[in-house]
Amino acid sequence: MSIRIAPSILSADFARLADAVATVEAAGADQIHVDVMDGHFVPNITIGPPVVAALRRVTRLPLDVHLMITDPDRYIDAFASAGANIITVHAEAVIHLHRTLTHIRKLNVRAGVAINPSTPVDQLRDVARHIDVLLVMSVNPGFGGQSFIDHSVIKVEEARNLLTRAGSPADIEVDGGVDEGNAATLVKAGATMLVAGASIFGRPDPAAATRALREAALAHAAR
Ligand code: DX5
Ligand code: ZN
Repeated sequence: MSIRIAPSILSADFARLADAVATVEAAGADQIHVDVMDGHFVPNITIGPPVVAALRRVTRLPLDVHLMITDPDRYIDAFASAGANIITVHAEAVIHLHRTLTHIRKLNVRAGVAINPSTPVDQLRDVARHIDVLLVMSVNPGFGGQSFIDHSVIKVEEARNLLTRAGSPADIEVDGGVDEGNAATLVKAGATMLVAGASIFGRPDPAAATRALREAALAHAAR
């Protein structure tokens, strides 16, 4: 099984984003995780479509856009036009989830749904076949560098079971506090995409950290 490493630029130097992306791209990162926060859905504000468009010009890697915003439907078209390859909305922020996911797919973008630590996986049962990426938040969203919530491993297992029952080939992405210490456990539980901010851009050598995270994740297969 292939594991995708998704460095989160939230922990990079925002004045040097192109350099940060080039560094992890050269080190074999599979996609760039872009955290969009609005100061309403989460208590922090980050970036919008113009920054996604700017990143699109400097990398060939897929842009994995995580919308931590209220009423994401208003902005999906703008992020798709800016060059997003995955658009992930929060289940807690959307009323008509089936409609939203269908709309994202119509734009030829992979449709993701994220669930907060307090949201049960079961809530996604009836839309499972309309999801391309199921994102399990392993911290409460809003900030980089938080500690991994251990119960998330069980949620990844539940997510894998739910997708298997639905016959869905969707990816399971884990976001928050992921590092070399928990990567193999998450892959064993069913994760296929690992987001890492602090454990890549918070390290003195982000390229080495990218490679180390992949090796740690693959250690599961060797066990
Ligand atoms: C948190 C964001 C994450 C964040 C992860 O709300 O969604 O993507 O960048 O950062 P780390 O890996 O530092 O927990
Ligand atoms: Zn994120």
